[in-house]
Amino acid sequence: MKLNKVVFPVAGLGSRFFPATKATPKEMLPIVDKPLIQYAVEEALDAGFTELIFVTAKSKTSIRDHFESKLNTELSNLTKEKKELLSKMNKIIPNGVSCKYVFQEEPLGLGHAILQAKQLINDEPFAVILADDLIDTKIGALKQMVDLYNDTNSSIISVQKVDKASSIQYGMVSIDEGSQNMMKLTDIIEKPLPENAPSNLGVVGRYIFCNKILKFLENISFGTGNEIQLTDGIKSMLIAHPVYAYEFEGTRYDCGDKLGFIKANIEYALKNKIFGDDLEDYLKNRLKI
Ligand code: G1P
Repeated sequence: MKLNKVVFPVAGLGSRFFPATKATPKEMLPIVDKPLIQYAVEEALDAGFTELIFVTAKSKTSIRDHFESKLNTELSNLTKEKKELLSKMNKIIPNGVSCKYVFQEEPLGLGHAILQAKQLINDEPFAVILADDLIDTKIGALKQMVDLYNDTNSSIISVQKVDKASSIQYGMVSIDEGSQNMMKLTDIIEKPLPENAPSNLGVVGRYIFCNKILKFLENISFGTGNEIQLTDGIKSMLIAHPVYAYEFEGTRYDCGDKLGFIKANIEYALKNKIFGDDLEDYLKNRLKI
């Protein structure tokens, strides 16, 4: 079945970023001039997804506003350039693409968030993007994964090599032999201590799932952090159904973390056509290099 649907779990508290995220969702924090959630949406659109499902909290109205609200392009004092800019802002979501919003009443974990989208997902395969994992690549990470899904029709989760000492921040996987960057998962553990991590491969926030994952998620109980963990759903599924790990090409920034967020801003700003060179000069000067 063709992949059309992508779920964006965006209901988390964002507590690592308090106080900035007390009233503003962390997914609305900008990298240079674009909110994280828009990078995620553009990655999904680029990968061919046409049904976007946001699992959001009732208080997080700005995400919906960002995509749905329309700026008034008929104001009498607008220059031609301003009018064009405003029109562009009104077309972040192209024609033919739908956005749906569903609430997660309580932040009970990533697995729980995905289950809230069950009725909208219906019986189809679907992707999941965690917007705070920003991936800088030539070919979008999700697009890379869609091509592989079309070959295998199996669930695929993206991974990267991480420092084992930081395993408590990730779902950590073990894998069977496989071709270069597509490997069969044999185990997955949510945020283990380094000594319990099965390898140095950590899960990054891009997933493609066959629909069966929903059944497994419905049958798991509270896990790490007292949350319904997606990782536990994947673990119970892979006994009966193959799941592949894909080491994507690209650089990932953990933008749910202050340092990761700042690094992403610096890297994207350095690439900015208008002020990138000025920023580089400033940084060299500042660091005396
Ligand atoms: C989530 C997942 C974890 C994954 C991580 C990637 O954790 O539960 O398995 O490695 O995203 O960013 P979170 O960072 O939301 O705590």
